[in-house]
Amino acid sequence: MTITQLAFIGGGNIAQAIVGGLVESGYDRGAITISDPSPVQGAKAEAMGVNWSQNNAAAINVSDLVFICVKPNLVETVCREATEQLASKTLISVAAGITTQQLIKWSGSSEIVRCMPNTPALVSQGMTGLFATATVAMTTRDSVGELLSTIGKVAWFDAESDLDAVTAISGSGPAYFFYLMEAMVEAAESFNINREVAQTLVLQTALGAATMAQNHDSAPKALRAQVTSPGGTTEAACQLLEAAGLSDTIQAACKAALDRSISLSNDQSA
Ligand SMILES: NC(=O)c1ccc[n+]([C@@H]2O[C@H](COP(=O)([O-])OP(=O)(O)OC[C@H]3O[C@@H](n4cnc5c(N)ncnc54)[C@H](OP(=O)(O)O)[C@@H]3O)[C@@H](O)[C@H]2O)c1
Repeated sequence: MTITQLAFIGGGNIAQAIVGGLVESGYDRGAITISDPSPVQGAKAEAMGVNWSQNNAAAINVSDLVFICVKPNLVETVCREATEQLASKTLISVAAGITTQQLIKWSGSSEIVRCMPNTPALVSQGMTGLFATATVAMTTRDSVGELLSTIGKVAWFDAESDLDAVTAISGSGPAYFFYLMEAMVEAAESFNINREVAQTLVLQTALGAATMAQNHDSAPKALRAQVTSPGGTTEAACQLLEAAGLSDTIQAACKAALDRSISLSNDQSA
């Protein structure tokens, strides 16, 4: 991986996940600076062996790529305070709902990459959707993709509006799977399996199913057909799920998340 100087403005959960992934993959710690006013985040940065700054402008000045990792409501202030330093940099923003147009207006830079990561990034199994403005060079796109691959998989999108769909599927998606796990643990407990064992049964099954689906050429639908024998236990369960309209409900839930993402984005750009 090409080593460039990186600044992270905001050193909270998502910045630590990305920096943790980079450090684990062998990225030069000396080339990473986390800028965050909080000494708590400073201590965490120093524990990871990367630089800590309390001065965003100074951190940006010595960097080639600048990750904006503050909460969405702080992005405008952070950018406007450092316009002079940001104008010539490539910005990588993880802030949900903040558009590239807003980032261009607030920072003075036209080279913007917008990302939508998800929480499994914290365990290096994230899924990050990416969109870049036309002015971002292909080599920079490749570098950003490579950097974010240290916390999971990445996918590029040609339309910025697709990030709302990414939010609805992979951004909020971990919670949908947790919900299913929760229900299955409750079912196991109702069959007199103790909670700890129930969790092991469910979590290992989820991990095994995801690993199989990833390592197999067949789509999940075909994999499900393969494990569903006529007249068997799986068929009994799947018939009930279908009769209850679970597929439609899941699709409606994803649509609700999509609509909410669009409306939050519109609120923020109002
Ligand atoms: N967590 C996720 O899985 C996830 C997923 C997708 C997108 N995101 C996006 O990632 C961004 C960060 O989320 P997070 O969960 O990492 O938040 P977080 O843990 O609260 O981290 C934000 C950090 O920024 C610091 N900060 C506040 N003002 C600052 C300033 N002026 N300059 C520099 N740093 C400043 C905060 O310090 P204080 O705490 O002292 O204020 C905090 O340490 C958000 O925009 C969110 O939309 C997160």
